[in-house]
Amino acid sequence: MSEQPQARILIAEDEANLRLVLQKELERLGYRVQAAPDGEAALRRLEESNVDVLLCDINMPRIDGMELLRRVHERPNPPEVIMLTGQATVETAVEAMKLGAYDYLTKPYRITELDVRVKQAADKRRLRVDNLRLREQLARQSALPEIISVSEMMKEAIRLIERVAPSEASVLISGESGTGKELVAHAIHRLSGRSDASFVDLNCAAFQESLLESELFGYEAGAFSGAKGRKLGLIELADGGTLFLDEVTELPAQLQAKLLRAIETRTFFRVGGVRKVEVNVRIVAATNRNLETVVNDGVFRSDLLYRINGFQISLAPLRERPEDIEPLARHLLKQVGGTSPPELTQDAFDALRNYSWPGNVRQLKNCIERAVILSNNGRVTISELPPEVLRPSVAVQPSASSPAVAPGTEPAVAANASAPGSLREVERQQILAALEQTGWHRGKTAEILGISPSTLYRRLRDYDLERRR
Ligand SMILES: Nc1ncnc2c1ncn2[C@@H]1O[C@H](COP(=O)(O)OP(=O)(O)OP(=O)(O)O)[C@@H](O)[C@H]1O
Ligand SMILES: [Mg+2]
Repeated sequence: MSEQPQARILIAEDEANLRLVLQKELERLGYRVQAAPDGEAALRRLEESNVDVLLCDINMPRIDGMELLRRVHERPNPPEVIMLTGQATVETAVEAMKLGAYDYLTKPYRITELDVRVKQAADKRRLRVDNLRLREQLARQSALPEIISVSEMMKEAIRLIERVAPSEASVLISGESGTGKELVAHAIHRLSGRSDASFVDLNCAAFQESLLESELFGYEAGAFSGAKGRKLGLIELADGGTLFLDEVTELPAQLQAKLLRAIETRTFFRVGGVRKVEVNVRIVAATNRNLETVVNDGVFRSDLLYRINGFQISLAPLRERPEDIEPLARHLLKQVGGTSPPELTQDAFDALRNYSWPGNVRQLKNCIERAVILSNNGRVTISELPPEVLRPSVAVQPSASSPAVAPGTEPAVAANASAPGSLREVERQQILAALEQTGWHRGKTAEILGISPSTLYRRLRDYDLERRR
């Protein structure tokens, strides 16, 4: 315990000599000691400073020891109290302990004995304070993650989240990559009656089919070579809680059928298992694909879609709600910049607001992270923003010598342009080049381009590059 900070002691004792001797002795033992001649003065001291252990005489003028003990325990986070008295009777001892005193010492006592009790009391308080701090930390962590919502669209999304969360309905969250689907899924779980149970997430695009099946449903020993013991699937681990199926439309057809059965019957079989296992999970799913298209194309079963689509929340892309950009940027700055985040200059804010953010909030977050690292003297100017954020404005104002965007300039979204050199055309060419490089292998192409396979699929559809040309 030697690294612990010195315990802070307050002595409440009306007899001046005794008070002085106690103070000197305890200071000699390494404590930080204050003293008060009566109960009232002691309470004042407690208002002004943080005390670990209060040594409290019983007979004192104005407020006596027992009353002081009572008042101390009305305060938040009180010190531990050790009662000191010359006229010990069993009744006062019992009463003091009932009122929450840590211990009781009868005069005359040896200073070594007092030292031991004070140390124990200080340790107890330290543990209590630590415990309180950890609990608060935990509560803060499990509190609702902050979802910035200034635009009407996001406010409406929040309203839907609050309405649907306490129900048992399955929820399908749709929106482009980086719009906050996972954040919303977490919020639904936290606001639901299942918040004490687990939130288990599975990215349906991240595994190949056979692995995905055993991840989701688990397996029995001997189900396949290498299956030594039983493994519980994520659906089972989510029992009583929420199962978040991210990129749900990427689920292979056979697993879609199995999942549908599991949802309908609330039971499933582990891989290689013959016994039905019961589960109670709420499904929250997310997709960045157009649902009508995946159903029409036969990629996704419509009956499964109806099952998980009990309630739909769609998150608008950031370019359709530019009023969220500035508050999001401020929020993300605080999140990534710690206690003293740098400030963004007005120019930098303007540039952020005028950019189209194809990668939505995730891209904005990456941009802010980069800017915080590059910032000088606590400021982020446009020089610390990545070139793509500034580039469209250059395209709009080719004669401008500075890449800064004048306030009020039209947002430079080149979404429909396909002229050579337009952002869209540049992107299309880059994707084509990567496809050629990999012999049209989509997985490798996505890797080269640094985007998720599902984002690549969407781009391929957008640019009509789904088939090799
Ligand atoms: N409204 C918001 N308020 C605060 N933070 C947000 C908001 N929207 C998104 N974020 C943050 O942006 C990042 C991306 O969000 P998230 O991972 O939820 O997106 P997503 O839609 O699941 O993306 P993907 O489809 O690529 O998986 C996260 O760090 C998230 O906390
Ligand atoms: Mg996600």
